[in-house]
Amino acid sequence: MNRTTFAIPSLKILGLSILLSFSFYACRIQNPQEIGVLADHAMVVSAHPVATKVGLDILKEGGNAFDAAIATQFALAVVYPAAGNIGGGGFMVARNNRGRTFALDFREMAPAAANRDMYIDSTGAVIEDLSWFGHLAAGVPGAVAGMQAIHDSLGSLPWEALVQPSIDIAAQGVSLTEKEAKQLNEKWEYIQEYNTRPNAYTQKETWIAGDVILHPELAQTLKMIRDQKSAGFYEGWVADSIVAEMQRGGGLITQEDLKNYRAIWRKPISGNYRDLRVISMPPPSSGGIALLQLLASVEPYPLAQWGWHDTRTIHLMVEAERRAYADRATHLGDPDYYPVPIENLIDTAYIRQRMADFDPFAASTSVDIAAGQFTESEATTHFSIIDSMGNAVSLTTTLNGSYGSCVVVGGGGFFLNNEMDDFSAKPGVPNKFGLLGAEANAIQPGKRMLSSMTPTIVTRNNDLYMVVGTPGGSTIITSVFQNILNVHEFGFSMQTSVAAPRFHHQWRPDAIFKEATTFSLRDEAKLEALGHKIYKRGNIGRVDAIWRRPDGKLEAGADPRGDDSAMGY
Ligand code: DON
Repeated sequence: MNRTTFAIPSLKILGLSILLSFSFYACRIQNPQEIGVLADHAMVVSAHPVATKVGLDILKEGGNAFDAAIATQFALAVVYPAAGNIGGGGFMVARNNRGRTFALDFREMAPAAANRDMYIDSTGAVIEDLSWFGHLAAGVPGAVAGMQAIHDSLGSLPWEALVQPSIDIAAQGVSLTEKEAKQLNEKWEYIQEYNTRPNAYTQKETWIAGDVILHPELAQTLKMIRDQKSAGFYEGWVADSIVAEMQRGGGLITQEDLKNYRAIWRKPISGNYRDLRVISMPPPSSGGIALLQLLASVEPYPLAQWGWHDTRTIHLMVEAERRAYADRATHLGDPDYYPVPIENLIDTAYIRQRMADFDPFAASTSVDIAAGQFTESEATTHFSIIDSMGNAVSLTTTLNGSYGSCVVVGGGGFFLNNEMDDFSAKPGVPNKFGLLGAEANAIQPGKRMLSSMTPTIVTRNNDLYMVVGTPGGSTIITSVFQNILNVHEFGFSMQTSVAAPRFHHQWRPDAIFKEATTFSLRDEAKLEALGHKIYKRGNIGRVDAIWRRPDGKLEAGADPRGDDSAMGY
C-alpha cells in the first residue's frame, strides 16, 4: 500500500489533532543522524566483535550468509556465554538471493518426563525460581541441531571450517569486556550454587575487564561437534555428560530426549505494512504474529506526520501492544500441540476490528494485576547477516536468562538454558518477563515453550530492505516494531534507530515501561492525562540490524547498549 494513499479513520484523527495539538517533532533525536558502519557488499552485526569478525571472515573466504550464521552462532557460544550458546535454542528467519524465505525452529523442547504441574507445590502455588535456576529449568537444547539443519540445506563451506574458529578461540581464551565482567559477577553466586564441578567460570570470585577465561572443556565439546556434527552433541560423551549433570542436580533430560531432538523448518509468517513485506517467525514464537498485528493496527494512522515519540504516536502504539499481548497470552503456543489460529490472528480485518474501540483520548484498561518483576536482562542475542550474493539471515538465539539455568555441564564446559520458564507454569501466574499464558502454553512432554523472539526480514518491492531482531524477553516484539517504524516512518538511519530510547507495553501489567531517558516529563504528563501509567526501567533490548539505504549501501545498526559491533566490506 502506498504511503500517501492509506485510509485514515478521519474523525478520530481530526479530533485528536485538534484536541491534543502537540508540537510536531518528527525525528527530533537524530539531528545530526548517527550513521552506522556502511558497506557495499556484505555485513555482519552481532553482540560481540570477535563473533562478528568470525562471521565476516567466513564471508570473505567465500562462504554465504548461512555459513557465516553458523560460525557466528558457535563463536557467540564461546565469547558471549551469557546468551550465545550450544546449550540453548533459537530461531532463524532467512531469505536467499532468489527471494525464497525460510524459518527454522531450533527451540528447546520439554523433556519427556516434564508435566504441567512440575513447578507447583502441594498447595497449588508456583515454586519460585524452580523454572529459572538449576537443572529442572533446562529444556532439551536445540542449537546444535539447528546449525546442522541450516548447513544441510543452505550451507556451502565444509562444516569443519565453520566450527574451527570457535575451537581456536575457546582454547586461546576470551578476554572479558567491562559489561561482561559485570554480568558474570551478577550471576557468580548462582553459578557457584548450581554446580558441583569446577568450571571455567568459577576459577575466580570477582571478574574484571581484561580477565581472560580459558575454555578447554568447551573446546573439547566443540571438537566433537566439528567432527560428528549433531551426533557429537546429542550422542556420545557430550550427551552422557549432559545426562550425568541432570542426575547430579535432579534434572529431567535423558539420552532419549537428546536423541529425539529435531530442528523444524516452518512456514514464515509474512504480511504487508504500507509498501513493505515483513517476514518473521511463526509459532512457537509469538513474535511474527504479534509484530504483524502491531503493524496492521497502526497502519491507518499518519505516524510520520505525528512524529517519533509524539504522544499520539506512543498512545496508538501502546494501545496496539495491549491488544496484541492479550491475544498472545490466550492463543499462542507450540502449534504442534495446540491449534494456534494463525490465519485468524493475522487477518487485517480481525486486527482492525480489535482496534475499533481505540480511543484517541483515553487509555483502555487491562484489568490490572500485580506487576511482574522485570529482571533487567539482555541475555538473548541476535545477529543479522547479509552476504555479497544477497542472502540474508536474521537469527535470535538464547539461554533465556543470562547464563540460562546457571548450570554448566560438568566436563562439557557449556551452560544449559532455563527456557522452561517460558511455559506458563500456572494460568494467571506471570513468568519472569511478566507474561501470562494459558492452556496453549501449558507444559507437555516434547512441547516447545512459547517465545517472543522475532528475527525479521523486511523487503520493499521484492528487494531486501532490512534485517532486524533483538533480545529482551517480552520486549523483543515491541523493539522490532519500533525499529521498523523508526526507519520507515520517521526517517532514522539504522544506527540512530537502534540507539534511540524505547518503550514497551504488554497488556499486563497495565503499564508503559520506558527506558530512563525515553521521553520528557512534559510528554509523560500528556500520556498520564490519557490514563497511562508509566514506569522507568533499565535497558530495553540490544537491537542488531542492517538496512539497505536508498543509495544502495548497507548500513548496520549495532546497539550501543552492549558491546555490539558491525563489520562489512
Ligand atoms: O524466547 C523468549 O522469548 C525468551 N526466552 C527470550 C529471553 C530473552 O530475550 C532474555 N533477554 N533479554
